[in-house]
Amino acid sequence: MSATPDLPALPRRLAAAEPGWTETTDVVVVGSGIAGLTAALHLREQGLHVTVVTKVNIDDGSTRWAQGGIAAVLDPLDTPQAHAYDTEIAGVGLCDPEAVRVLVEEGPARIRELIRRGAEFDRHPDGSLMLTREGGHRADRIVHAGGDATGAEVQRALHEAVRRDPWIRLVEHALVLDLLRAADGRACGLTLHVLGEGSEDGVGAILARAVVLATGGMGQIYSSTTNPPVSTGDGVALALRAGAEVTDVEFVQFHPTSFVGTGTASAGTAAAPRLSPAQRPLISEALRGEGAYLVDEAGKRFMVGQHEQAELAPRDVVAKGIYRVLRATGADHVYLDARHLGGEFLEGRFPTIMASTRAAGIDPATDLIPVAPAAHYASGGVRTDLHGRTTIPGLYACGEVACTGVHGANRLASNSLLEGLVFAKRIADDVGRDLPPQAEPAPAPAGPSWVVDPAIRADLQRTMTRGAGVLRSADSLAGAAKELARLAEQRSRPNNAAWEVTNLLTVAAALVASATSRRETRGCHWREDHPTAADEWRGHLLDAVQSDGILTQTFQEMA
Ligand code: SIN
Repeated sequence: MSATPDLPALPRRLAAAEPGWTETTDVVVVGSGIAGLTAALHLREQGLHVTVVTKVNIDDGSTRWAQGGIAAVLDPLDTPQAHAYDTEIAGVGLCDPEAVRVLVEEGPARIRELIRRGAEFDRHPDGSLMLTREGGHRADRIVHAGGDATGAEVQRALHEAVRRDPWIRLVEHALVLDLLRAADGRACGLTLHVLGEGSEDGVGAILARAVVLATGGMGQIYSSTTNPPVSTGDGVALALRAGAEVTDVEFVQFHPTSFVGTGTASAGTAAAPRLSPAQRPLISEALRGEGAYLVDEAGKRFMVGQHEQAELAPRDVVAKGIYRVLRATGADHVYLDARHLGGEFLEGRFPTIMASTRAAGIDPATDLIPVAPAAHYASGGVRTDLHGRTTIPGLYACGEVACTGVHGANRLASNSLLEGLVFAKRIADDVGRDLPPQAEPAPAPAGPSWVVDPAIRADLQRTMTRGAGVLRSADSLAGAAKELARLAEQRSRPNNAAWEVTNLLTVAAALVASATSRRETRGCHWREDHPTAADEWRGHLLDAVQSDGILTQTFQEMA
């Protein structure tokens, strides 16, 4: 076990008032994207009372922004083994083969279930599902909806299913604070802050027999990300404070093609809503799957010759290819050329992309699309087993917040929505098998309890982008660690923004610690000073926060 020099000690609890109200349920699910809502619906099938708490509104998470689709073996000529092979190649030696097997074998049934719940995927005139291809896949196995609006359709269908069930209680504008644990250490609920009214306003507690984290990602630790503003690593930070193990957080995937346009500052329209300052519109990989290609300022296709799949290589390979061009030229973007696909096809297949680029004055039918990598997906997270159990009994995690082992060092395109579906169901099955009676929370253990000044948010994002972004080195990471320590000293009184930024600081510190320790280049972790993969690093770094707030790491070799 080792600690990284210069990083700040972290709080073991968020500074907050004592809960002023308490509610009880069977299972509390935190998060309302594909993983959280799927877990809630399956838990209801077990006859359990479920409370879903979500930070803003039910549809404000990452799911509705997903464009590409959901990968699964639905073509008779494709096989689960082929899907597993592509997943493991993208994961560069760090995928858990058993978790991957579960994902690819159970995925098709979960998609059929989603269709039964009302999700409408794009189909051919004969009624069969349209399947497309994205980076790293060697077969057409991605289902999509509304062309490039897959996430929005999935969110709509799940949202409606949840609304139809009177036994699922939804609490919006609820920021989860800390885990409550019984005397035997089992999770027995959580504290949260609700911007509500009446009995449910301010800091409160929800007592539950099991807690499911489905809080999504942490893209907001960077200055540019495809993630919405709510993606502030709340679940990973809560798990670290509670003493749960978190793993693989150094593997943040940068999507190669986020849109670099003035549209990010526009007032937005219904089709192209306004984004937060850090959020950039995604230009789905499916556009490259349909034949668009990347060119530099001189019009040269720079990915050809770098990888046998050129623009459709796994994401880390394409993001690195683009970053090399940016470093060599000093430009802030390269271009995606989709003009040869034609306006009519682009309108029908990519309405979301057409709306967001046109809002910024770029018409992909006639113009090159300026693109650059942006933080997109946390391949690591709260460590779980094949049933979504974390290292704290009674605490589960699924979706982007979790690290089930399926993504390894780099997630394969369109495997994330699938992972949410598959492991949410497994959690519900596990909870249904073994749910103890409600336990009383034990007093919170002693340990540091504070929050930082929300004004550090932009500095933190700049620090992480500069020091721990696409390309890292010992020097850049040491600089980031020192700067995070300085920012951690700027404390504040508790409030929503301060709790959220303290979560950002917590996950940023864990990421810098792991990225510093991992002295190799693997998947989406790219070290300038250690440019190749090293066998001795074939394993996982486990982060934990000790009782004094010191962040430690343990390396666990792959079996
Ligand atoms: C995309 O459409 O390119 C994103 C899909 C994903 O993140 O898997």
